[in-house]
Amino acid sequence: MNQYDPTTPDHYTNHLAEVNETNAVIATEDIYNKDGMLLVKKGLAIKPEVARRLLNHKLVKPLEVSVNVDDALYGQEIHRDIHQMFDRFEGLLEIHSSMRLEASLIEVCEKYGGYDLLVQKVTVLCKRLPKEYQKGLFCAWLSFAMATRLNLSNEEREAAFMAGLAHDAGMLHIDPQIVAKTGEYTPEEWRAMQSHTLIGELFLSYIKEIPDVTRRAVKEHHERADGSGYPAGLFEDSLCIVGQVVAMADATYAICEKRRFNDKIHLGEVMPVFQIDSSFFPNQVHMALMSVLRQVNHAATQQEISGDLSGMSAQLMEKRQMLEGVVESIYALRETLAEREHIKRMRVAKVKIDRLWTLVTRSGMLSAPLGRWLQHVIENQIIQTVSREIVEMDLMYQELQWQLKQLGRVLYLYLEEEKKVTPELRKALTNSIKVLDMGAPKSMEKEEKVA
Ligand SMILES: [Fe+2]
Repeated sequence: MNQYDPTTPDHYTNHLAEVNETNAVIATEDIYNKDGMLLVKKGLAIKPEVARRLLNHKLVKPLEVSVNVDDALYGQEIHRDIHQMFDRFEGLLEIHSSMRLEASLIEVCEKYGGYDLLVQKVTVLCKRLPKEYQKGLFCAWLSFAMATRLNLSNEEREAAFMAGLAHDAGMLHIDPQIVAKTGEYTPEEWRAMQSHTLIGELFLSYIKEIPDVTRRAVKEHHERADGSGYPAGLFEDSLCIVGQVVAMADATYAICEKRRFNDKIHLGEVMPVFQIDSSFFPNQVHMALMSVLRQVNHAATQQEISGDLSGMSAQLMEKRQMLEGVVESIYALRETLAEREHIKRMRVAKVKIDRLWTLVTRSGMLSAPLGRWLQHVIENQIIQTVSREIVEMDLMYQELQWQLKQLGRVLYLYLEEEKKVTPELRKALTNSIKVLDMGAPKSMEKEEKVA
């Protein structure tokens, strides 16, 4: 994972210079380098030429604690933007009302406005990485709702909100070309992307008043209960619940993003995906999400599905066959992994295969009757009448495909880290990685890298 030094100006400096074009970014104190040289006088704007100068020096303090961004997004603006975000998701406002979250949302937004550095980061995120900002709004709200459902303490509920909002703000310190990349990452790029968790944790440490659990939740939002996450690959018993709440909110958003139909996202559609497999997240967190989503009257909010359903059904048929082959071939790998369970990555991979197998057999998603049903639907052109089932099936297949790719990543990391691998094992794992690395929609590949 890349080393991040908060006192060495990085890509965030350039982001500040860009933001300065619309919202003045002014030095609130004289800025010195480590040798005591004055680089920027108090009151000066962070223009591109100033940014260039800063990039050549190591500073006494991180740049962000010595600047102020004008017209920043404080509590009122975040509250406004969360309500605007409700318009994109069918059912969110209904949940918000039935859980009576409004008063506590206003309160937590006000609290957020008191953390100046957090306000600055979120403002820069909104200006420079608007998609991450929108995701942050969703995760802040959903994490807060889940934390409420879990009856967590006020401090933990606040942490869920703040960490949800800023969980990906660490990306502002990573090369924007890597962040914006849509193809496959190189191992170095992948490591750089993973570092956003630790960067996020570190910059929050400059906000003294913020509870430790907020920092920890940001650091752990890509950790998974089965040990397959990062940065530390911790298992469920070592993870904090708030981090897992944010992780699950993040995963929910990713599933919403994967859906291919309608402008407005119906939140009830993500339920089947999580119902088929909850192994990634602690059970109580999984239950909390289900409980929040059940606040929506799904029947009342059913909407007409629009889009090329015929094309999707044909693709589903193909994908079904491909997934069937992949699942069978990876099950054959199970024996090989079982013999090496004393190695952590091998154990994680074996547990993943067992869970995937249970998931596939229990859900029946690759069963012959379901295949015959899909064939029947296509041949008899009755797709429109079963449109919701088709969309659910598509989401489930995408989820399975994503989880298989995650398994491939665990095997890849093992081969990368472990030098003493027998030629036979290397061959077997390399073949499996190839099989698991199936073609996926571009949007999914992108998500898969950071999930
Ligand atoms: Fe992230």
